[in-house]
Amino acid sequence: MAKNAEKIAATGTGGGKSSYEKWVEGEGIPIIKTFFAEDIRTVKLEPWDRKGGPGAFLQMEGAGQVNNSYICEIPPGKSLKPQRQLFEESIYVVSGQGATTVWNDENRKQTFEWQTGSLFSPPLNTWHQLFNGSGSEPARYLAVTTAPTMINLLHNLDFIFHNDFAFKDRFDGRDEYFSGKGTLYGGEYDGFRFAGNAWETNFVPDVRSFKLLEYDVRGAGGRNIKFELSENTTACHISEFPVGTYKKAHRHGPGAHVIILGGEGYSLIWPEGEPIKKYAWHEGSMVVPPDSWWHQHFNTGKNPARYLALRSFGSKKYRGAGKKYKGTVDRKLGGDQIEYDDEDPIVRKWFEEALAKNGLESRMASFYNKNK
Ligand SMILES: [Fe+2]
Repeated sequence: MAKNAEKIAATGTGGGKSSYEKWVEGEGIPIIKTFFAEDIRTVKLEPWDRKGGPGAFLQMEGAGQVNNSYICEIPPGKSLKPQRQLFEESIYVVSGQGATTVWNDENRKQTFEWQTGSLFSPPLNTWHQLFNGSGSEPARYLAVTTAPTMINLLHNLDFIFHNDFAFKDRFDGRDEYFSGKGTLYGGEYDGFRFAGNAWETNFVPDVRSFKLLEYDVRGAGGRNIKFELSENTTACHISEFPVGTYKKAHRHGPGAHVIILGGEGYSLIWPEGEPIKKYAWHEGSMVVPPDSWWHQHFNTGKNPARYLALRSFGSKKYRGAGKKYKGTVDRKLGGDQIEYDDEDPIVRKWFEEALAKNGLESRMASFYNKNK
C-alpha cells in the first residue's frame, strides 16, 4: 500500500455528515446539489487538483448516496493525472475526443480512442489516464461512480485511492479488451420475462447511434439495449421511444442517472400518494428518480427521444447488490410498473396538451384499453 496518507477531512462525529460528504467537501470543486440538471454540457467547473483538470460534483438528490456523478474536463492538448480507485466508474463523453490508457502492469499499457457519445468504464482499481485529442477544444465527460457506497463503508481514503490490488478477474490485460466487440445475451429473470437486450462489452463508440433492440415491456414501441461493462456490478442502458409516445410509469432503486441524448419531452416523478413533479428536458438534461419514486418519460418533440441511464448496481451478470424491484411487472400483480389503463387520467391529458403545443398528435391509441 502506498504511503500517501489521505485523510477524510473532518474528525469526530462530523456534524452528522457521512464519510462520503466529508470527502466531497474536501475536494475543492463545486458541489451542485439538485434534483434535475438542465444541461450537463454547460455546468461550470473549477480546477480539481486530484484530476488535473476542472470539475464539479453533480450531487443528484435521487442518487441517495448509493452512487454519485461528476463532470470533468481535459483542457485542450492536455491529459488528466493517472488515477486508480476502489469504486466503479462509468464514463460518458459529453463532448470532445481523446484517448484513455489503462493498465495494471506498467509494462503492458493499452490505449483506446473515444469521441463525443462514447461510453466506457476503467475496470475496478486499474490505473487509467485520459488524454484530450484536440489542441483547441476541451473534452468533457460525465462519470457515475459508486464512490458514496465504498467511501461510506470503508472510510479510508488510502485504501480507496492507493490500493495495489489488481482485479485480474475484471481486467486481464488482453489486447482486445477495449475493441468495442461484445456479446448479446438474455434470459429469464426470477420467473418473469426478462427481455434480453444485454450487450456485454467494454467500450461503446457512440451511445447516440448505437443500434437498439425491441423492448415492448415498457410500452409504446420502445427500444433499448442494456450494457454490462468491465465486469461491473453496476449497469447502464440506452432507451429510445418514438414521436408521440410515452413510456409506462415504473419505480426502482436510487441512482439511475438518466441523461437525455436526443429529443425533447418531460418526465413525471412522484412518491406513492404524493403530488406529481414535472421536469422538462432536452439534449444534455439529466434527472435521477429517487428510491421507489414512480417515474414516467414522455416524448413531446418531433424526433425520437433517446436517453442513457447510468445506474447503481443492476448488473444481470453480477447480481445481489441493491434491493430487488419488479420494474417490468404490473403493480396489480405485485410489480413496480403502472399499466397505461391504470394511470391517473391527468397523465394522458397533460401529454396530449404538450404535444398540441408542438403541433403533434398522440400515437398512443393502440396501446390503451388493453385490460378491458
Ligand atoms: Fe426507471
